[in-house]
Amino acid sequence: MNSLVCFCNGITENEILTALKKGAQSTSDIQRMTRAGTSCGKCLAVIDSLVEEYLAKIPVDPQQKIKFDL
Ligand code: FES
Repeated sequence: MNSLVCFCNGITENEILTALKKGAQSTSDIQRMTRAGTSCGKCLAVIDSLVEEYLAKIPVDPQQKIKFDL
């Protein structure tokens, strides 16, 4: 599927997924990397959903959950 997500900037779902695969962790990262969602903002809810869905599928390294405040 390669549907257009951000009509203002012509950014497709595939381009957003590519940014996620390259390490984007948030909607702000997607905005910075693709410019999606940086004009009218109407697509931000869709971008949020794509980010949430993608991050939910990635297994979390248990070592990264541990935060030490030394
Ligand atoms: S549709 Fe994405 S910023 Fe307008």
